[in-house]
Amino acid sequence: MKLWGGRFEKGTDKSVDDFNSSISFDSRMYKQDILGSIAHANMLGECSIIPKEDSTLIQSTLKEILTDIENGNIQFEVDAEDIHMNIEKILISRIGDTGKMLHTGRSRNDQVALDIRMYLKDEITNIKQMLLVLEKTLIEISNQNLDTILPGYTHLQRAQPITFAHHMMAYFQMFKRDLERLEDCYKRTNIMPLGSGALASTTYPLDRLMVAKELGFDEITQNSLDAVSDRDFLIELSCCLSIIMMHLSRFCEEIILWSSHEFGFVEMDDAYSTGSSIMPQKKNPDVAELVRGKSGRVYGSLITLLTIMKSLPLAYNKDMQEDKEAIFDGVDTVKMCLPVFTNMLKTMKVKKDNMYKAAQGGFTNATDIADYLVKKGIPFRNAHEIIGKMVLYCIENNKAIDELGMDELKNFSELISEDIYTEISLAKCVSGRNLTGGPSKESVLDSIKKGLEFLSQMNTCS
Ligand code: ARG
Repeated sequence: MKLWGGRFEKGTDKSVDDFNSSISFDSRMYKQDILGSIAHANMLGECSIIPKEDSTLIQSTLKEILTDIENGNIQFEVDAEDIHMNIEKILISRIGDTGKMLHTGRSRNDQVALDIRMYLKDEITNIKQMLLVLEKTLIEISNQNLDTILPGYTHLQRAQPITFAHHMMAYFQMFKRDLERLEDCYKRTNIMPLGSGALASTTYPLDRLMVAKELGFDEITQNSLDAVSDRDFLIELSCCLSIIMMHLSRFCEEIILWSSHEFGFVEMDDAYSTGSSIMPQKKNPDVAELVRGKSGRVYGSLITLLTIMKSLPLAYNKDMQEDKEAIFDGVDTVKMCLPVFTNMLKTMKVKKDNMYKAAQGGFTNATDIADYLVKKGIPFRNAHEIIGKMVLYCIENNKAIDELGMDELKNFSELISEDIYTEISLAKCVSGRNLTGGPSKESVLDSIKKGLEFLSQMNTCS
């Protein structure tokens, strides 16, 4: 018989059991469920809501059940619907009526809210650790490429010279924001809902703060209706995960482009590439492509969650059971992508010469030549037009601006003199951009320094 079977005259249809059951996907919360139950049982005993010796027996039996699950000695049942009732049923099968005291002052509604919060708190910490490793890798690569010049792009057209370190540190900033977002999301996940009961709390004098403290929560929820039907924290996490995937996907797109023959900026290590079953010459960036592709399923989870919660009346509704597969898939996918992506990046070969050659073409120093004329007293708009004509002349004559002789240069402006050649070198274009946030070596070193400070501060709080 079902744990809730009292008011029913016959059993549920087999198809309903299968349809209703969530054990196939919520069994992964067994540990959180048991730890939550131990804390609840302990509090029931301490507050004399159930006898102390019963509380002690419940707690020790729950610990045994945990060990048995971890050793693979327990088979969950679809009939028992979910992880909460499976564990309670096992408890009752082992200690009879004493086990039946556990659910005093508790509902599966506040229980599931507790379990998912505990589960996601751990996963947020895990994902933060993975992001920290990625951030450290980005700093390592940046330190090795402070002088590696390549074209920066807008509209995927060569724009101005930057360094590879500067480019990597752009991603550092993106993942830094992801870390901050996760930290913020953690705060709203770290709130303890037990004591909310099914929806209207309970008449038992539960010590909610005691349970929160034992389970490592900072606060307790402040409205029982909201506490059992709030899934904002889960949607927020899904949003954080989607943004992480969006960042990874942009990065992957660049890596895929850079490893093409047309760019030739990087080469993936053999260990992180795959071949073609038909074309013997192929070395494909499959890892980057798969990470890019997997962003789709993480976004899908976010939409799933938002749609499940849309229009749900207060308080708990069974629709909410559907939250689990979506958030678990998002978490699993990000956890699968981050380490493999980081290792791919770590082992990637940077082809500095090709990057430099690309920066030499495409007139990436054109802005600096216009600025050169501005420094000689020509208004910027006029300088822009003069250099535009110079670029056109170069295209027609198949030359770079630096390759023009003094006589050719003078045709565009009498104010141009010999110093132009050093003023418009790629190295100068980069080193001159030394504002905070710029690509010059000193600016990038400064951003690395600040980045390291941020990472050490993150390390101490997680
Ligand atoms: N398996 C359910 C879920 O994941 C647990 C809560 C069920 N509560 C209920 N009253 N049916 O949402």
